Amino acid sequence: MRSSWWRNAVFYQVYVRSFADSNNDGVGDLPGITSRLDYLRSLGVDGLWLTPFYPSPQKDHGYDVADYYGVNPEYGTLDDFARLVEEAHRRGIKLLIDIVPNHTSSRHPWFEAALSGGDDPHRTRYYFVPGRDDAPPNNWQSAFGGPAWTRLDGAPEWYMHLFAPEQPDLNWWNPAVPAEFRKIITYWLDRGADGFRIDVAVSLHKRRDLADRPLVPHRTTGLPTTAPGFEIIDQPEVHDVYRDWRHITGTYEPERVLVGEIFDPGRQSRYIKQDELHMAFAMMDRRWDASAWKQAIDVYRHAVSRSTSLPSWTQSNHDVIRHVTRLGGDGLGRERAKASALLLLGLPGQYFIYQGEELGLEEAFVPPERREDPLYIHTNGRHQGRDGCRVPMPWRQHEPNAGFSTAPPWLPTPAAWDRNAVDVQARSTTSVLSLYRRLLEIRRGLARRLPARMDWAAAPKDCLMYHRGPLSVACNFGHRSLELDQAGRLLIGSTPGVRRSATGLLMPPNSAAWLETRRSAAS
Ligand code: GLC
Ligand code: CA
Repeated sequence: MRSSWWRNAVFYQVYVRSFADSNNDGVGDLPGITSRLDYLRSLGVDGLWLTPFYPSPQKDHGYDVADYYGVNPEYGTLDDFARLVEEAHRRGIKLLIDIVPNHTSSRHPWFEAALSGGDDPHRTRYYFVPGRDDAPPNNWQSAFGGPAWTRLDGAPEWYMHLFAPEQPDLNWWNPAVPAEFRKIITYWLDRGADGFRIDVAVSLHKRRDLADRPLVPHRTTGLPTTAPGFEIIDQPEVHDVYRDWRHITGTYEPERVLVGEIFDPGRQSRYIKQDELHMAFAMMDRRWDASAWKQAIDVYRHAVSRSTSLPSWTQSNHDVIRHVTRLGGDGLGRERAKASALLLLGLPGQYFIYQGEELGLEEAFVPPERREDPLYIHTNGRHQGRDGCRVPMPWRQHEPNAGFSTAPPWLPTPAAWDRNAVDVQARSTTSVLSLYRRLLEIRRGLARRLPARMDWAAAPKDCLMYHRGPLSVACNFGHRSLELDQAGRLLIGSTPGVRRSATGLLMPPNSAAWLETRRSAAS
């Protein structure tokens, strides 16, 4: 059997533009990441996911790719990428890169050629469709607001974009498109990428009849979106693409992996397969409530069979409000976030840390005039946008811009972030950073004894508890302290208040604990 390095791995999402700036121009870059690999190794992660670093007009911060084979000059060069791969691998850190197959940038040579004339063959690589009188071809909506169609200067045809107008959707029904992406993924695998995070993974093919669909408000943005059951995406042919990619990754050694940007558990069941994707994101964005979390954990656990894959627990990424803020903000949000890290990192499966999560960062306030997110721009400010979770990392206290850059960063650093800086937290034993480091270290130490199976245990109201081999994990979601009657050595508590008493384990409100119960190594 092949070794599966990725099973139970801890990944770290690097938002390239905001991680580390090597040349003080206010923008993160690849050499910056390389210079921080020792930080990431000391944190204890197994792999990185880099957000897109390709040449791009940055209308959606890299998710609008103009050249799939290069590096955005702001971020470095192909040589810088080669160094990053080499240095990461030297430290035993894997590197996943982001691939954006659903759409290109409107500045991609294909789209530019498509616009050059009504009979240019590149038009068939996108969706150019005649309108209905003066209206778009159908009622499909852009995720950033408004119709999913744009018409240029009175042209007879409209082109489709499920995101910004600068992100025209590729037509995956045209064989030239899959052929190109096969080349692209091979190119990066040959350059040492250990796999891909696949952007909007289930959208590639659109339903062929382009029919109108009923619309409902989107769960998080509130913008109109296709009603469930009336999908325009997620066509059977998307699976053929991933079977093909899985076959390609399977020809590399060590194993390369495919992580789909898929949050829906039902879809995860259909795409995470022995011959399709390896992983997808188990996004834990429920309100702070024991039964809601238990239910969400179970839904994701049961979405895929243990022999194929395990959930990839995730609390934050570059598209959502940081979870310290979601969980109540400030001290309360941070206590809960520390507890949720223990709860989720004890479970079978992978875990994705979003940069800054290990510092307990909150969503930052970005002044409206500095916001850059197309979601903010295209909704005319009705949606606050995602800039607040993309503010650059604070590295050093008492330095301009918390040590990210001597130049003003592309998004402003909040003044109060100084105290969250990596150097401050590295010196403190009670910081969120120290907690994450210890937690990952303990997890590594236990790894070989932790089975893929876990079992819930009886627990007091507002408390969740499970056993996984020698590890027992408890989390108190409630407002009251409780005392657990549970044997075992306390390995780590989310907060110093978690401790052994004469009769049990004391757990303050919003805290969690890892306990080790002695069993023979063989069992
Ligand atoms: C994904 C990305 C998001 C981007 C969108 C369009 O959801 O995570 O940042 O805006 O795709 O590419
Ligand atoms: Ca830079």
